[in-house]
Parts: sequence; structure tokens; C-alpha cells
Amino acid sequence: MNINSQYQCILVTGGAGFIGSNFIRFLFEKVNYKGKVINVDSLTYAGNLENVADIADEYGGSQYFFEKVDICNYQAVDAVFGNYRPDCVIHFAAESHVDRSIHGPKDFIYTNIVGTFNLLEASRRWWDGDYDARRFHHISTDEVYGSLGETGYFYETTPYDPRSPYSASKASSDHLVMAYYHTYGLPVTISNCSNNYGPYQFPEKLIPLMILNMVDEKPLPVYGDGKNIRDWLFVEDHCLGVWLVVNRGKVGQTYNIGGENEWTNIDLVNRLCEIVAGKTGKSRDFYKKLITFVKDRPGHDRRYAINCDKIKKELGFAQTVDFTQGLEKTVDWYLHNTEWVSRVKSGEYRKWIETNYLQR
Ligand code: NAD
Ligand code: TYD
Repeated sequence: MNINSQYQCILVTGGAGFIGSNFIRFLFEKVNYKGKVINVDSLTYAGNLENVADIADEYGGSQYFFEKVDICNYQAVDAVFGNYRPDCVIHFAAESHVDRSIHGPKDFIYTNIVGTFNLLEASRRWWDGDYDARRFHHISTDEVYGSLGETGYFYETTPYDPRSPYSASKASSDHLVMAYYHTYGLPVTISNCSNNYGPYQFPEKLIPLMILNMVDEKPLPVYGDGKNIRDWLFVEDHCLGVWLVVNRGKVGQTYNIGGENEWTNIDLVNRLCEIVAGKTGKSRDFYKKLITFVKDRPGHDRRYAINCDKIKKELGFAQTVDFTQGLEKTVDWYLHNTEWVSRVKSGEYRKWIETNYLQR
């Protein structure tokens, strides 16, 4: 893939998480990025260095560097800027799970708002008004736009209307990012993406949770009536969209990225039952019988649907992986990566990180 990049040193936050780790792999393996990548991650429960272990083995010390830093700690963030002098920041780090934000919003406020503020401040200080060939790209979500009825789409111009502590914290950080553009001229871009799926997603989110529960023959909990709709995008296509915005997007602009692929949760879970059955030899109905309707999530947004014409027309974005292919790949990944799965499920992955990585 040929997307020219002028950036020499990219600070990626949250690079041990689901999308951040896929993005780092995308940089090295899909677009042959030749500069340096600094992965800044505090390794919360969602951060797993095993997600980028292959990258660390191949590029560690030359092109790839890891810094265990909490973005809520301004001094530590500032020191990373001082050491590496990045000319580009791509900010994935966040508390990302809506259900957790309902049970405990505090970390969402600190990481998503204060953490973003610290990164903006450090960028402003180190770039010091010299904004040519610099970029602060903020990764956001379509959830900031609220909930749709049966028709309509989210556009970049749709007014923000967040409903969960998670989406409210992301909306707040988006506003801060744009405020730094308008107030200080910081060269920012934002992308608001729909639901991602693919390898390395922590199994608290719908798709990996369902796959692993099927493997364990456990109930498949579907919230409410199962008719809530999400627009699903394969994670590598999100990475492509982000890379296009970083390199071709106009400063001060927001770009929606979506799958144009709406599914009710219940249809999606039924589809997963068919795919998993095709691979394990059990019947589709065996898995469907595990579906259990459970109490709805409070404030559960009914429908998300992204209009992504802007990034398609202006930056040449197109989805490359269709949903059947993407789900097949994802199911295969979870069925074959049994060690990753068992370490994540048992919590062993935290010890694995200590012994295999941080003490090396
Ligand atoms: P994730 O939860 O899998 O990973 C988040 C990463 O951030 C983890 O590695 C974690 O250790 C790190 N992190 C958390 N708090 C930190 C802190 N204080 N300091 C440093 N690192 C910290 O999340 P994800 O699904 O990969 O999402 C990445 C980004 O994409 C988020 O900003 C999220 O809002 C956004 N997004 C996600 C989706 C989706 O479907 N997953 C969709 C649209 C947008
Ligand atoms: P999720 O993966 O948590 O993403 P988000 O809330 O950010 O969209 O959930 C996707 C959809 O699946 C959402 O409508 C909630 C629903 N859901 C369930 O029905 N059961 C579950 O166990 C989970 C985790 C989610």
C-alpha cells in the first residue's frame, strides 16, 4: 500500500490495546513505515504486550520502543516527548468499555479527558509553535453522536449527544482537541469510528466474548431485545482510515470512519453461531440454544450508523474486508490462538508480560 508519510517519529498511545496494537502491526507490515514508533501505554487490564510481541522482537530497539507510562502523569508524558521528540502523535489510549464506564466512571474521566489534555499540553510545549509537518491525531468514536432511530446517519456535522460516561468522556476529549486547534493552532485531526472487531480484542466486547463463550459452551448474554444496531468495521480497515487521515487529512478536520455494515446484535450473534459451528463440527442450533436474553444495559444506545462519504471522497478511503471474511478471520484467530486466549481468560497474561517483556 503506497501512502507517503512525512513523519519520522510517531508516538502511539495505547499501543498494547486492541486497535493500537493492530495499528502498530499495520504500520510495519502493511505500509512498510520506516520511521520510529514509540508505544506509550500504562498496561491497564486492557493492555497486553503480547499483542505486539512479534513487533518488539523484529523492530525493538531500532524502530520500535515501548514506554510504560500513564498518560495521566504529565511529567512522565513530558519526559517521553523530551527523549524521542515525536513529530506525530496518534492517540488511541483510553478506557474503552461502556459497561465498565457505567459501573465505575472515574478512570474514564482521568484517562480519556485528563490524559488527552496532558498529551495536548506536551505537544504544545515541545512543538512550541513550529507546527509545520507535525500532527496530533485523536482517535474517537461514533458514540459521541448519541443514538439514532430507525433511519438516518451520523455525519461529521451531527451535534454531539453522548449518553454513557464512556461516550461523554470521549466527547469531552474531542472538544479539548478541537479547542487546541482553534486556540493555539495545534495541528490536530480527529477520526470518529464505528464498532471495530478483529484479532487481539479483549473478550469483554461483544464479538470475542460470544466466540469464547461458544468455545466454553457458556451462555451467550444478549442485552435487552437484541435489536440494538451497530455498524461493524474490521480493525485493519480502521487502521487504514487513521493512516489516511494522519497523512492526507486536513488540519482542524474531523473524519468519520465506518463499515457501512449495520447489524442487530441478535442477527450478529446468530451469524457467529453459524461460523463457529462450521469450524468446530457442532451444530448451529447447539450454539443458538446458548443465547440468553439478559437485562438491558442502562442508557443502551439503540442504533449507530456512520456516513463516511467525506473520508472516501476526500482521502480515498474504502473498506477492504467484507463482514463474512472479517468474521471468519476473527473466529479463526480466537480458535487458533489458544495460549493468548487462556492467558487472557485466566489473568496470567499480566504475569506473562512481567516475565517475558518488562524484565528482559
Ligand atoms: P482497548 O481498551 O483495547 O485499549 C486501550 C489501551 O489504552 C490499553 O492498552 C490500555 O493499557 C491503554 N491505556 C488505558 N489507560 C491508559 C493510561 N492512563 N495511560 C496509558 N495507557 C492507557 O481499547 P481499543 O478498543 O483498542 O480502543 C482504542 C481507541 O479507539 C480508544 O480511544 C477508543 O475510544 C477508540 N475506539 C474504539 C472502538 C472499538 O470498537 N473498540 C471504536 C471506535 C473508537
Ligand atoms: P460492545 O462490544 O460493548 O460495544 P459498544 O457498547 O461500544 O457498542 O457492545 C456491542 C453491542 O452488543 C452493544 O449494543 C451492547 C451489546 N452487548 C450484548 O448484547 N451483550 C454483551 O455481553 C456485550 C458485551 C454487548
